[in-house]
Amino acid sequence: MPQLTCIDPNEHAIDVVFQPGETILQATHRAGVDGILAECGGGCSCATCHVMLTSDWDGTLSAPSSSEADMLSFAVDPTPQSRLACQVQLNEQHDGLTLTIAKRQY
Ligand code: FES
Repeated sequence: MPQLTCIDPNEHAIDVVFQPGETILQATHRAGVDGILAECGGGCSCATCHVMLTSDWDGTLSAPSSSEADMLSFAVDPTPQSRLACQVQLNEQHDGLTLTIAKRQY
């Protein structure tokens, strides 16, 4: 099974096994990872599922949609690696992905 690594707001690394087709939000919530509030439940309308991918990730993720990019402008201190966890769908190619959960979601 593929897995990703989350760095939570307390800087603990947590390995999360995911099913291809899940979003980062679905995988991390199922694993009980803290720090991703996801107040809108994955509807791309709150920006409280803000994560940052490692800058050396190989680029196999699709680019943010215009609605994700718009919503990221409401995230706290977004970076060029910022994504909304509810909008990133994972597949086998994403085995080994590392991401950091934003220390503040609002
Ligand atoms: S859960 Fe609200 S934007 Fe992702």
